[in-house]
Amino acid sequence: MQLEKEAGMDEYIFQGILTRHTSGPKDTPESLESLKGEVSKCVSCDLHTTRRNVVFGSGNPKARLMFVGEAPGEDEDLQGLPFVGRAGQLLTKIIEAMGLKRQDVYIANILKCRPPKNRAPLPPEISACADNLRRQIDLIKPKVICTLGKFASQTLLKTETPITALRGKFQEYPAFDLTSGGIPPERDRRRDNGIKVMPTFHPAYLLRNPQDKKLVWEDMKNIRKEIAK
Ligand code: URA
Repeated sequence: MQLEKEAGMDEYIFQGILTRHTSGPKDTPESLESLKGEVSKCVSCDLHTTRRNVVFGSGNPKARLMFVGEAPGEDEDLQGLPFVGRAGQLLTKIIEAMGLKRQDVYIANILKCRPPKNRAPLPPEISACADNLRRQIDLIKPKVICTLGKFASQTLLKTETPITALRGKFQEYPAFDLTSGGIPPERDRRRDNGIKVMPTFHPAYLLRNPQDKKLVWEDMKNIRKEIAK
């Protein structure tokens, strides 16, 4: 696989750039923890009645690179961790092919609870969960968010443009507020942080369409360049 062949080639580029060393608020990790505690008790939508575990997210709380998927599946619901099933194993390979480890990046989903039988998330579920992801992103302040698949890409970028058109092109992270009128500009620090969003194909799609792995690898190389800046 091309991803694996190229793995490690530019590993040195990542020396010292995996985490930001700038001084953020001293309590950033604790705040992410307290948000996790809050979300673990969430009953804002009906998914709390069928979930086994809330899948908050995992990884480096100061990651430069954050991946956002759709919603937990069965394995994730059982373990309380994102991307631990078959698609997750491919995501791990992709991350490692970039010369990174899972612990270097942060992985989360649009929805923190599993939709029954892995059905597509419903608009009220997205609205109920939107603030959780927004607060998570605000705390982590990644340089790049890689949205995995149509659902995460369209939701985060607030667009209906097909994933085939979105894929591979960096966009600015927009004010992410699906529930109210937006964040006042003076409180919106994300534009200052210059977070970029790179939409790419979902690993579950790649399992069915391995010929498109080369496109995802192009996206990962561009992300690598961006986080090295
Ligand atoms: N698919 C997703 O979008 N997220 C997961 O956590 C697992 C599979």
